[in-house]
Amino acid sequence: MNIISLRSGDERLIRQAAQLLLDAFREHWPDAWPTLKEGLQEVHEMLHTERICRVAVDEQGNLLGIIGGIPQYDGLVWELHPIAVQPNRQGKGLGRALVEDFEKQVRLKGGLTITLGTDDEDNMTSLSGVDLYESLWEKVKNIRNLKNHPFEFYQKMGYVITGVVIDANGIGKPDILMSKRIRK
Ligand SMILES: CC(C)(COP(=O)(O)OP(=O)(O)OC[C@H]1O[C@@H](n2cnc3c(N)ncnc32)[C@H](O)[C@@H]1OP(=O)(O)O)[C@@H](O)C(=O)NCCC(=O)NCCS
Repeated sequence: MNIISLRSGDERLIRQAAQLLLDAFREHWPDAWPTLKEGLQEVHEMLHTERICRVAVDEQGNLLGIIGGIPQYDGLVWELHPIAVQPNRQGKGLGRALVEDFEKQVRLKGGLTITLGTDDEDNMTSLSGVDLYESLWEKVKNIRNLKNHPFEFYQKMGYVITGVVIDANGIGKPDILMSKRIRK
């Protein structure tokens, strides 16, 4: 497995990346990229020169995973968006490898902090279906993972919950905000 930058001329990998976005998000976030056209549009946006777009490929050059980053606050903060690993290759350390590589790329560009939003639209955590305006931080402190929501993956990578966008995807469907400082 290799992690490389995705190039705008690599049509084969770009198509595989668009398909991966559909496949990886279909189950819990069906509205994220419902069609290949929207997946392709997202991947082309990921290739903008100021952004980071890295892919994990196997020995045959086929796509295993993808991660993207968007600079904010003059490049001091980078938003991790999106990350996806081929469904049949998940749980084998590829996500961790992609995040670690991404952190290295952000460090090289002078970033201090990585931030991200991870939606809970499908009752996957204890933060969904409740009124987060009541005792918000108590609820955040006691968050439970009900259906393999990725917030726990990010926690394992050292990310902490810094906030919640309440009702981001409808009433009781928040976006969970997480960050990690990547420089001492
Ligand atoms: C989330 C995702 C990128 C993780 O990649 P992965 O290759 O499966 O993760 P890894 O195998 O590197 O896992 C690293 C650790 O996180 C844990 N982990 C991974 N996904 C998890 C989840 N959904 N819930 C809880 N823990 C998880 C693993 O068990 C592992 O723990 P360990 O270090 O104690 O063994 C991948 O599952 C994926 O593409 N999911 C669908 C798309 C998605 O959810 N993207 C993020 C939306 S914000």
